[in-house]
Amino acid sequence: MKRVSVSLVGVLAVALVAQACSRPPEEKGAEHAVESAADAREPLRLGGHERDLVLAEMRLMLESTEGVVAGLARNDSAAIEQAAARSGRRAPGTIDQELHGVLPEDFLRMGEEAHGGFDEIAQMARDGASSEAMTARLGATLHACTSCHATYRVEVTE
Ligand code: HEC
Repeated sequence: MKRVSVSLVGVLAVALVAQACSRPPEEKGAEHAVESAADAREPLRLGGHERDLVLAEMRLMLESTEGVVAGLARNDSAAIEQAAARSGRRAPGTIDQELHGVLPEDFLRMGEEAHGGFDEIAQMARDGASSEAMTARLGATLHACTSCHATYRVEVTE
């Protein structure tokens, strides 16, 4: 009797695992739709090294955004200026100059908008601008990020 109930538990367990693994058909369909969804963004065809440079610059701009927001929350204009200046037009680590010949004109223009926005935020912080004004400028700067992200994706060619 004990053996029977143990094997019953075994069969039940196998049945439960099998059920958990087989998803209902509509879920499978959704998964498939995500996999095959067309990414209509324009591919930026870059070599591996160029891709690394572009993405490193992106992460730098996100760090600047983080620093500016944290500075705004504390009303700390020195911190805002410092964080914003790291992503300004002439900041080291901005690659637009290095990759000028490779990147499309629209990409460079939106990149310029983002870097220019950070330059302006740094200047506003130096000039003692209000948090509201700097937040608004940051919002406009972030629009350059989202516009470009909606337009391009990176595709590595080598
Ligand atoms: C001129 C175009 C452009 C602008 C402006 C831009 N990005 Fe990007 N960003 C890209 C592209 C292209 C990618 C790669 C997206 C992909 O391949 O899916 C990317 C990727 C990123 C990533 C991912 C980095 C990684 O390591 O994977 C972050 C974070 C990012 N961007 C942040 C920002 C922030 C923050 C801003 C604005 C302050 C910004 N970007 C502005 C084009 C841009």
